[in-house]
Amino acid sequence: MSTILTGDRPTGPLHLGHYVGSLKQRVKLQSDNEQFIIIADQQALTDNATNPGKVRANITEVALDYLAVGIDPTKSTIFIQSLVPELSELMMYYLNLVTVARLQRNPTVKDEIKQRGFTDSLPAGFLVYPVSQAADITAFKADLVPVGEDQVPVIEQTIEIVRRFNTVYHTEVLVEPKALLSKVSRLPGTDGQGKMSKSVGNVISLKDSADEIRNKVKNMYTDPGHLRVEDPGKVEGNPVFAYLDAFDPDEQGLAELKEQYQAGGLGDTKVKERLVEILLAELDPIRKRREAAAQDMAAVNQMLQDGTVKARAVAGATLTQVRAAMQLDYF
Ligand code: TRP
Repeated sequence: MSTILTGDRPTGPLHLGHYVGSLKQRVKLQSDNEQFIIIADQQALTDNATNPGKVRANITEVALDYLAVGIDPTKSTIFIQSLVPELSELMMYYLNLVTVARLQRNPTVKDEIKQRGFTDSLPAGFLVYPVSQAADITAFKADLVPVGEDQVPVIEQTIEIVRRFNTVYHTEVLVEPKALLSKVSRLPGTDGQGKMSKSVGNVISLKDSADEIRNKVKNMYTDPGHLRVEDPGKVEGNPVFAYLDAFDPDEQGLAELKEQYQAGGLGDTKVKERLVEILLAELDPIRKRREAAAQDMAAVNQMLQDGTVKARAVAGATLTQVRAAMQLDYF
């Protein structure tokens, strides 16, 4: 049995990339492990400080997405980051054990700074978000962190902080986590350009209606060289096939479909129809569960409050040990 910490920034409704990358795994893991799921509103604010309304609105969106995919609040503890101030205190101590140069070298942070066009406008809080994430993970003594591939450098930095803390303060209170990657680690956007990203608008959300899904698949990028049905088509780099790889339960049927497509004589419309069918079958029950959960928002809020109370107790116990290790246990 492992202790798991995982979570999301509440900056938008969750999408298929989240679903295959981590949500499915969380549903599986929750039965045999102690799983905590953080809705990281403070981390979301590191690049949305002037847009608190967006973060606020997406807390419940994300919570509904969790319930929709089958995360069970009796098995997983779902909580809101900013309501656990112990995490901020831990971060404050860890910040002294990390150099600015090391943070600037973190490949994930580097990429994200570039993507967001921060040069002189880089918020200090954004640069140090990996330290905040280290606080999240270590507060729960999580040994397993299911994340997407892009988060691996953040976990590596957490491991460094754990080692440094335990060495400097002659203690073993902090636990080194391991990243757990899913089989399908990266789902391309519907435009075939890089990963799904809400800001790019190449996303299929879990809460999309059947019509929205049909439309998005219809407009999906395929192989630009595949002009006529008779032409041979490319499967690599073709997001329609990447989605089929992730969702089609019929492996052999899919292999045959690919062969046909590559030989020529199979139109994009046909392949897309198959994808629509498969996606609707997977997402219909999710959408229905989401709608049912949204009928009782008081219950959703209560779930978040209960989860937060439980999370605070665990983080508080770790913080007491951390303070003692640092000789801050004054009275
Ligand atoms: N950085 C994660 C993301 O963007 C969210 C997150 C915050 C997280 N704290 C975490 C993930 C702790 C795993 C563990 O999706």
